[in-house]
Amino acid sequence: MHTFGQMIEHGHERVCFHHDAETGLRAIIAVHSTTLGAALGGTRRWHYATEEEAIFDVLRLSEGMSHKAACANLPMGGAKSIILLPKHGHVATEAEARAMGRFIETFSGDYIAAEDVGLNPQFIDWMAMETNHVMGGETVSTGGDPSPFTARGTFNAMKACLRHQGNEPTFSGLTVAVQGLGHVGMDLCSILNSEGAHLHVADIHEGRVTEATEAFGAKAVDVSNILQAKCDILAPCALGAVIGPDEIRRLNTSILCGAANNILVDPERESIALAERGILYAPDFVANAGGLIWLAGLHLGYDREELDRRNVEIETTTLEILDASTAYQSTHHAAIAVAERRYAAGPMTGKEPIHAS
Ligand code: NAI
Repeated sequence: MHTFGQMIEHGHERVCFHHDAETGLRAIIAVHSTTLGAALGGTRRWHYATEEEAIFDVLRLSEGMSHKAACANLPMGGAKSIILLPKHGHVATEAEARAMGRFIETFSGDYIAAEDVGLNPQFIDWMAMETNHVMGGETVSTGGDPSPFTARGTFNAMKACLRHQGNEPTFSGLTVAVQGLGHVGMDLCSILNSEGAHLHVADIHEGRVTEATEAFGAKAVDVSNILQAKCDILAPCALGAVIGPDEIRRLNTSILCGAANNILVDPERESIALAERGILYAPDFVANAGGLIWLAGLHLGYDREELDRRNVEIETTTLEILDASTAYQSTHHAAIAVAERRYAAGPMTGKEPIHAS
């Protein structure tokens, strides 16, 4: 489908392409929605096989950011940007980052960039030398790595899943399988371990697995088996699009709640199949909102107490969506309905109560 067709179908406001002759930077910024406020979303550096693939990715990711902000009741819109690398492993330079910063600056604050795959706080700080509209650096901009807050929020969403199933939100004796032991996955394991959960873990980097087995007594599982691990909660914390129809048939969990963005290959279809199999799915953009709450909250001037309170509220928001899902085809559809109600209500002040209904 052509770009305008996709924009119209998914409600995107603005998609901008940029080429910087000096550095060769090729980048796209997609602003899905500024209805609720300025649009925040990470910058991804990635090598895409085709331009179509890149455009599809940035449109899909930016839409997800709008839903995430809306469900977290933040007065923020949703956007995403991508830097199209000429090849995998293309080395990041200050000149490239600063060229991206100048591109972001042309949005005059309607778009606020942050970290995503392929970026680190240094890159963010280089971008921040050219624009104030970037979060997540350590020296020039603020916020740092939001992963610990994402992990805490995902844990809070897991508590909501347990409550929805009629259980106490305690983890002692429960088995949680974690796919991906990166920034978020490892922190999540640390929290779960301190709460008494048994951990089954997998990562393509053996060193990460060893770290988790030694630190948390986790059981190492082969990467090809982790999604089928027998567990109470399965937490994908690696890449997106890991759960499709085949995986759903073979899942051995009663709860699917992870931090990865776009866990389901086709959320509309897979969310219904999960409901039919009786597997409780915490919509990813609700469960992984902790990092956004942290960076958007700092941007909005929230103090630490307010930031922590909003992270804790992920449990209430998730529970309300899960409880409301009986009136919808799935928990995903229930979450989208919350986001759409928020867009329809229009611009926000940031003082609104956080709860979802
Ligand atoms: P990361 O890059 O630090 O960690 C990802 C980990 O997954 C790495 O250790 C990698 O080796 C592992 N991995 C990759 N493919 C794998 C496979 N097939 N099987 C097992 N392990 C595999 O990324 P980070 O920051 O921890 O994010 C994880 C997920 O959460 C991503 O999908 C990201 O988009 C999402 N997310 C992250 C947020 C954050 O605050 N960092 C916020 C919201 C979502």
